[in-house]
Amino acid sequence: MTTPPNAPPQRNIDIKPATPVVAPEPVSAPVADTEPIAIRAQGLDSWYGRVQALKGISLEIPKCRVTALIGPSGCGKSTFLRWINRMNDPIPGARASGTLTLHGDDLLSRSLDVVELRRRVGMVFQKPNPFTKSIYDNVAFGPRLHRSFRRADLDELVENSLRAAALWDEVKDRLKSSALGLSGGQQQRLCIARAIAVGPEVLLMDEPCSALDPKSTASIEQLIRELETSYTIVIVTHNMQQAARVSDRTAFFFEGTLVECGSTDRIFTNPANKQTEDYVSGRFG
Ligand SMILES: Nc1ncnc2c1ncn2[C@@H]1O[C@H](COP(=O)(O)OP(=O)(O)OP(=O)(O)O)[C@@H](O)[C@H]1O
Ligand SMILES: [Mg+2]
Repeated sequence: MTTPPNAPPQRNIDIKPATPVVAPEPVSAPVADTEPIAIRAQGLDSWYGRVQALKGISLEIPKCRVTALIGPSGCGKSTFLRWINRMNDPIPGARASGTLTLHGDDLLSRSLDVVELRRRVGMVFQKPNPFTKSIYDNVAFGPRLHRSFRRADLDELVENSLRAAALWDEVKDRLKSSALGLSGGQQQRLCIARAIAVGPEVLLMDEPCSALDPKSTASIEQLIRELETSYTIVIVTHNMQQAARVSDRTAFFFEGTLVECGSTDRIFTNPANKQTEDYVSGRFG
């Protein structure tokens, strides 16, 4: 090897024997023994064709708590979320292996009834996507798919769902008006009411506030806190303050791996991993 002309003078330094570079073990604090687990992933791998989007994810999501998934764009947050209600199924080349269960039921089973799964696992997307129907019919749509109702029972279910989504008072006098006439924040709460109406166990939220103004965001965040007493919530967010405000546990993903998971307090104040610290403090991503 030749020395470049501008190289600094060589010094005798004590070179330690090279240590092999080993990927750090993910730091995934287990959920307390007393807490029931709703969703459990063990060694979950996922591909889109030849692209591996998730690499050996092992993660426990406690029941009736809010778990935030954070990490830079493309790290696999949505892919993980979408396996929980099998939204990846229609994507050509999408497949997964390993274990993913909801209260012990195998979510990756070929024989799983996906319609029934989506009743158990509701989803709210980034952009509010109400149907081009009345406010009432948006909420009644799912329950009517699953069974027939007497009118009074359906009215009650619609009202209870809208109340649970903190929207009832704003819409009770215009239930027959188009959902598209609502503001963005109201539309997102309507989508939450629609998800709740079928009696799910889990609510998945993929960046539910990213299309909303700060006031609507605050109302959705408050709603998430209220809903966690009845539902297991998994929320993807790019907003660190939001993750810190709404979640009990936080999981940090990076390039398809789970780097660290634990109580939100600890992840934000005393992360075990340098990458997590850099991400939550805004140094990258
Ligand atoms: N439908 C798809 N077809 C092919 N590759 C995909 C598809 N969806 C996602 N991917 C790839 O899988 C990886 C993980 O993507 P994913 O959407 O899960 O990331 P993300 O963490 O949700 O990102 P973002 O924060 O930008 O939403 C990326 O490399 C992405 O390009
Ligand atoms: Mg995403």
